[in-house]
Amino acid sequence: MSVTVRVPAKVNVQLAVGAARPDGFHDLANVFLAVGLFDEVTVAPADTLRITCEGPGADQVPLDRTNLAARAAELLAARHGVEPAVHLHIKKDIPVAGGMAGGSADGAGALVACDALWGTGASRDELLDICAELGSDVPFSLVGGAALGTGRGEQLTPLEVGGTFHWVFAVADGGLSTPAVYREFDRLTPTAPAPEASPALLDALRTGDARALAASVTNDLQPAALSLFPRLHDTLAAGTAAGALAALVSGSGPTTAYLTADAAAARKVADALTASGTCRTARVAQAPAPGAVLL
Ligand code: C5P
Repeated sequence: MSVTVRVPAKVNVQLAVGAARPDGFHDLANVFLAVGLFDEVTVAPADTLRITCEGPGADQVPLDRTNLAARAAELLAARHGVEPAVHLHIKKDIPVAGGMAGGSADGAGALVACDALWGTGASRDELLDICAELGSDVPFSLVGGAALGTGRGEQLTPLEVGGTFHWVFAVADGGLSTPAVYREFDRLTPTAPAPEASPALLDALRTGDARALAASVTNDLQPAALSLFPRLHDTLAAGTAAGALAALVSGSGPTTAYLTADAAAARKVADALTASGTCRTARVAQAPAPGAVLL
């Protein structure tokens, strides 16, 4: 018997970052949008907890207890007094270490899959609690759609989205460490104002207006990501030249995200990015996408 759960990637359409808190985290106003690039997490009974992974970048995914999928299984098992004796298999399609919450997606996916496999019947609130313990972005991977994340990003308010947005994602050669990007942010931004969600951006999501959304997307981590990965300037310029309505770093990077007017424009921007030689590959995806779902 096995259970498979599909989980989406995310892009941050607004990532407003405040000053570092005493616990080292940063207060955020983080507008998450789930996009249609998915990992699949399959769990099956086994003698002991083990993880395998296939797909692009699988060789960079840790297969030990530091993997959020393993930690999710252990946390749920400990709360319900069961042995976390499962084989977790991750089929990766979300760029690894790319700023698209791939590791968080795998944590949320493993949690939902183990809950179904073990019949633990955890409530939605308990699952969200465990997600928040796993990481700031993990609760959003569970719920999908669009949401405003406050606190360190884990306190979610669902947002209405009034249409389909067409995105392109340029996958960089190499990855960026999220803590390193936040450290660079602190260095570049000695006094960060309190983060606030942009009313114009929330309005653009609600009305499904791609041009209005393009005019209001912001990422406070972008200068830090560009400082650590300067080649991304060329990738962003190539996407803009090909007609993207907006070009920005996705989360802590180094994946870059391009909002386009429609599916045809997305294809054109993706082809131009691939041909530009400034990224490893380019993917098109639509948003919003649902959160973790049992297949
Ligand atoms: O919560 P998560 O483990 O995903 O965070 C990874 C790292 O990103 C943290 O250790 C911290 O360095 C940084 N971070 C932060 N403020 C946040 C979220 C993450 O400084 N709100």
